[in-house]
Amino acid sequence: MKKTNWRFKGNERKYIDEVLASGFKAGADGAFTTRLEALFAKKHKVSYAIAFNSGTTTMHAALLAMGCGKGDEVLTPALTPLMCGLAPYYTGATPVFVDVDEETFLMDPCDLESKITRRSKVILVTHMYGGVCNMTEIMKIARKYKLQVLEDCAQCHLGRDDKKRITGTIGDVGSWSFENSKQLTCGDGGIITCKNKRLATHIRKLGGLGFKNLTAKSGRVRTDRDKLQNPNWDRFEIIGFNYRMNQMAAAVALAQTERAEKFISLRRKMGLAYTKTLRGSEFLIPQKVLSGYYHTYYTFSAKYIGESRGVSWSDFRKKYISYGGDGIYAASKLQHQEPAFKNNKIGKGKTPTAIKLQKMLMNFTTNQSSKKERDVQINALKKTLKYFGE
Ligand SMILES: Cc1ncc(COP(=O)(O)O)c(C=O)c1O
Repeated sequence: MKKTNWRFKGNERKYIDEVLASGFKAGADGAFTTRLEALFAKKHKVSYAIAFNSGTTTMHAALLAMGCGKGDEVLTPALTPLMCGLAPYYTGATPVFVDVDEETFLMDPCDLESKITRRSKVILVTHMYGGVCNMTEIMKIARKYKLQVLEDCAQCHLGRDDKKRITGTIGDVGSWSFENSKQLTCGDGGIITCKNKRLATHIRKLGGLGFKNLTAKSGRVRTDRDKLQNPNWDRFEIIGFNYRMNQMAAAVALAQTERAEKFISLRRKMGLAYTKTLRGSEFLIPQKVLSGYYHTYYTFSAKYIGESRGVSWSDFRKKYISYGGDGIYAASKLQHQEPAFKNNKIGKGKTPTAIKLQKMLMNFTTNQSSKKERDVQINALKKTLKYFGE
């Protein structure tokens, strides 16, 4: 038997074998995409889930189905990877950058409201680092201005707010990524959830090359042979994209989704251990979790304030690594700072808090599989803090 990474010791291999045995039943009900969609929808208590090939193409199709196009504006937090602005840009809409809250590092509802214009169409909220946005305030604003809400949960599988609502099911559409660093992965992949049948049908058609037979529930493109094997049969109803998830990826994503709670609980254990270690620290302030919210710790993000004690961001990181800690990641540049947007003058909106925070954040890894591995990180952190005099 070949060695298997600890993350894939569920049904991953078994399901991959089934795909090979079945000869890629693409487009058939009973295929792994269908099974993944059924389980994902059940876990999120929604009617529809639609598998995609990434967590960027999910957002592109969702925004198109929500009616975004040239002249429209999509409100997106500045402190997110570029994909949150790329998806609106692909539709022809303008990404409008919203500032983040200094403590939660997430979309600031006050700044959001101040940036709404007649052109605003969709609020794209991103539950960054596994933290859950203030959805009560954001949904209030959405209702007040009659805007649709797309929740980007690429970094937040099964997060919850204080009302126990699951991330991705509070707004109109939820979007996830199964890219290889995510809580659940199949290498690359994505999925959409949606409660509205018309919207779900449109999203599936957009991501499925516009095939006429696709429905909100089913990715089956074939019909009975007499219709299909007929020169007069129309196949393509709308202009769509080939954003479908393949069966191999779906087999792995299904096995991962079966064990979602286990993966989240491991990430939470690591996140909570960092939190405990940093209580009262004068070097790092953890991302604030709103009262009653359930953080999923895709990463453990903290604001580095050790510069005021004469220790630079990079010296702290180097020392942490020298004590056996994993590399600490910086926050990716703000959308408008990335050359792809900056050089092409894409997007608008001032975000002073995000500009300040982006340079301060330290993101610690949370993908440890055991207490032993977690202890290595915690010991490295404790030693680093002690070394610098805490
Ligand atoms: C917050 C966020 N949104 C969207 C994406 C896009 O997902 P994908 O890489 O699957 O396209 C990612 C990650 O990669 C992400 O971290």
